Amino acid sequence: MSKSLCFFSLTVVLFCAVVLQARPYRSYVKPQQHGGSKADPQFTEKYFPQIMDHFNFLSLINATFSQRYLITDQYWRKGSGPIFFYTGNEGDIWEFALNSGFITELAAKQGALVIFAEHRYYGKSLPFGKDSFSLPQISLLTVEQALADYAVMITELKQQLAASACPVIVFGGSYGGMLSVYMRLKYPNIVAGALAASAPILSTAGLGDSRQFFHDVTADFENCAPQCRDAVRNAFHQLKELAERQDYSVIQSKFALCKPPSSAQDIHQLNGLLRNAFTVIAMLDYPYSTHFMGSMPANPVKVACQTMLSGPDLLTNLRNTAGILYNSTGMLSCFDLYSLYVECADPTGCGLGFDSMAWDYQACTEINLCYESNNLTDMFPPMSFTEADRDSYCAKRWSVMPRPDWLRIQFWGDALSAASNIIFSNGDLDPWANGGVRRSISPSLVAINITGGAHHLDLRGSNEADPESVLVARKTEADLIAKWVTMSKDQMADVYSENIHL
Ligand SMILES: *[C@@H]1O[C@H](CO)[C@@H](O)[C@H](O)[C@H]1NC(C)=O
Ligand SMILES: *[C@@H]1O[C@H](CO)[C@@H](O)[C@H](O)[C@H]1NC(C)=O
Ligand SMILES: *[C@@H]1O[C@H](CO)[C@@H](O)[C@H](O)[C@H]1NC(C)=O
Ligand SMILES: *[C@@H]1O[C@H](CO)[C@@H](O)[C@H](O)[C@H]1NC(C)=O
Repeated sequence: MSKSLCFFSLTVVLFCAVVLQARPYRSYVKPQQHGGSKADPQFTEKYFPQIMDHFNFLSLINATFSQRYLITDQYWRKGSGPIFFYTGNEGDIWEFALNSGFITELAAKQGALVIFAEHRYYGKSLPFGKDSFSLPQISLLTVEQALADYAVMITELKQQLAASACPVIVFGGSYGGMLSVYMRLKYPNIVAGALAASAPILSTAGLGDSRQFFHDVTADFENCAPQCRDAVRNAFHQLKELAERQDYSVIQSKFALCKPPSSAQDIHQLNGLLRNAFTVIAMLDYPYSTHFMGSMPANPVKVACQTMLSGPDLLTNLRNTAGILYNSTGMLSCFDLYSLYVECADPTGCGLGFDSMAWDYQACTEINLCYESNNLTDMFPPMSFTEADRDSYCAKRWSVMPRPDWLRIQFWGDALSAASNIIFSNGDLDPWANGGVRRSISPSLVAINITGGAHHLDLRGSNEADPESVLVARKTEADLIAKWVTMSKDQMADVYSENIHL
C-alpha cells in the first residue's frame, strides 16, 4: 500500500472533524448537550498537536493531528496538587467526562488538576478526518499509539502548566481502565498510579472463558428472578420456532420490524439485536436513571424483568424489553434490524457510527472479544464467535489477521506481580467483572469488589441511591490515591536532595 495515501492536509482533517459528528461508541441515542448543571466542573475543550506515528521515523515526517482533551484547573493547588488524567476510551470524550463525576469530586478534595484525553480515532480526534477508517489510514489505531499519545501529552502539558512536581494518577473505565493499567506498566516514569474500573484486562488478553460474558449477563436476570431468565429463554425459543416455520410476517408484527425478515441471516441479526439489549441493560444496571451509552431507567434489569413477565405474550414482552434500550425516547415506530444494531468483531456490540468502526478494528487486531452464547450456560440463542469466525470476518472487513496472543505478551497478561500502584475495581453486577482482576495481588495491586455495582459505578458521581459498597470502594480508592501522590512526591524530593549532595 502506498504511503502517499497517508499524507493529508491538516486543514482538511480539521474541517472533516468538525463537520462529521461521530456518534459515541456503543451509544444508542444522541449524547446529551454539554454544559450540564452549575455544579458540573467547567471543562475547557482544547486540542493538542499530537504526533501521528510514534513508532516510525520515516513515515509521516513531522505530521501531527489534533487530539481533543478537556481540562479544568478549578480545584487545582497550582504547581503542587496532583494531576488526575482520564485515559479516554472508545468514544466521545465528553461522554466519559460527564459520567465520571467521582474524578472531579476527588479532585476537589485532593486539589487536583483534571484532564480527560480523547482516544485517537474516536470522537473528534480523527488523525485523517473522515478518511481515518479507510485502509491504510486506520493502521495507526493501536493500543500502543494511544498510550504513547497520553504519555507525550502528559509530559508536554506538565511543562506548559509548570506542573513538573505534580504526580499523575490515571483513571479509566472499561477499555479506558485497561489503558490506565497499561500506562502504569509502560510509563511508570510518568504515572504514579492507576485506578482501573471494570477493566477486563484478562479476558481481552485471551485469558478467559468464552462463555463467561453471556453467562454473567444471564446471572443478573436470574438473580432478579429465575422466572425472568426462563421467560427470556422461552421467548427466544418461540422466535426460533417461528423462524423454522418461516412465519416471517408473524415475526415482523410481533417485533414491530420495519421490513419483514426473509432469511436466516435476518433472524440471526434479530437475535443479535435482542441479545445486545440485555447486554447493555446488564452493564448499565445503576440504581438511578442514566444517560450513558443510551438512556436507562433506574435499575434497568429489574425493569426488564418486570417487562418480560408483564403479560402472557412472551414475544411482545421481549420486544418491549428490547425497547428499553432502542426505544428509550418512545419515538421508535418500528425496529430497523440493520441500523439499530451492527454486527462486528465484538459480540457485546460495537455501537453505531465512526466510533463503532474504530472499535471493530481494535477488536480485529489486538483486543480479544470472542464471547459466545449457547443457550446452556446462558439464556440466549446459540451464537458462537470463535477465533476462526473472527479471523475470517477480520480478513474480509479490514484485511487484517487478529493476533490473539499479543496483548498478553505486550501487557503482562496475568503475570502482574512486578507491577505496583494499581486498583482493579469491579462491580458484581457487571458482566465484564470476571474478565478482570478480582483478587488483590500485592499490597499495592488492590482488587475491590463492589457488591450491587454495575459497569464502573465507582467512577460515577455521588448519588443518594448509591449502595454502601460503592461508598466504601470510593473511600479506599481515595485513600490509596492520596498515598501514592505523597509517595511520589517523597521520591521526587529524594531525587532532588541526592542531586544536591552530588
Ligand atoms: C520537519 O521539521 C523540521 C523542524 O521544524 C524541519 O527542519 C524539516 O524540514 C521538517 N521535515 C519535513 C519532511 O517536513
Ligand atoms: C416505542 O415506545 C412507544 C411508547 O411506549 C410505543 O407506543 C411504541 O410502540 C414503541 N415502538 C416500538 C417499535 O415498539
Ligand atoms: C434452548 O434449549 C432448549 C432446551 O434444549 C430448546 O428447547 C430451545 O429451542 C433452545 N432455544 C434456542 C433459541 O435455541
Ligand atoms: C471479589 O469477588 C470475587 C468473586 O465473588 C472473589 O473471588 C474475590 O475473592 C473477591 N475479591 C475481593 C478482593 O474481595
